[in-house]
Amino acid sequence: MKRLITFEGIDGSGKSTQIRLVCKRFDALGLQYTAVREPGGTRISEKIREILLQKENLELTAAAESLLFQAARAQLTAEVILPALREGKFVICDRFTDSSLAYQGFGRGLDLNTLETLNNYATQDTQPDLTFIIDIKVATAISRRSIKVTDRMESGGDAFMERIRRGYIELARGNPGRYRLMNGNLKERELFQQIWNILQEKYVGVL
Ligand SMILES: Nc1ncnc2c1ncn2[C@@H]1O[C@H](COP(=O)(O)OP(=O)(O)OP(=O)(O)O)[C@@H](O)[C@H]1O
Ligand SMILES: [Mg+2]
Repeated sequence: MKRLITFEGIDGSGKSTQIRLVCKRFDALGLQYTAVREPGGTRISEKIREILLQKENLELTAAAESLLFQAARAQLTAEVILPALREGKFVICDRFTDSSLAYQGFGRGLDLNTLETLNNYATQDTQPDLTFIIDIKVATAISRRSIKVTDRMESGGDAFMERIRRGYIELARGNPGRYRLMNGNLKERELFQQIWNILQEKYVGVL
């Protein structure tokens, strides 16, 4: 049984916070899992991450950006995700294929079908079992990252972020089987409780 769980949402929506809480609970239960973040997670993917996030790389085109994300994803999938899934472990991803649809598709205007084809190519047709989309207003997300220095992807402006937020909501509406749209305004613990309930329902007898 495949156990791939992904977390999505605009920057500052609370993905990493919730993943930390899920991992803590998995640890407490003694469950085997691997947690990764995109872009990154392998030696080569981390190098690609630097190119993607460095602010001086202003001339990077939307197509090149998109392919670099996919290259990092292909490496991460082959090197880490698929081996862990084959061992029967849970894999928890901080961003995955839906980030390409949301950011490069809805955000930058690239063709969604092309991006889906690239997603399938990079992941060897690996689809998440369950995807939590943490939804939050752009202004709230921005206010949360006050002290953090923004990277290239986070410097796209409010309108860009707004398109991404709308894109995630559209994805969630299109496939309620895989996506769960979560309210990112909830307190960390409250949101975690909802996420945990959904996980328990999905993996009955395991969690
Ligand atoms: N439910 C919440 N309520 C209030 N603040 C929160 C909540 N969840 C996370 N935060 C805070 O908001 C900030 C961003 O959270 P987090 O790093 O988890 O978001 P993220 O989605 O991983 O962002 P990024 O895409 O930039 O990695 C952090 O300072 C975190 O402590
Ligand atoms: Mg994060």
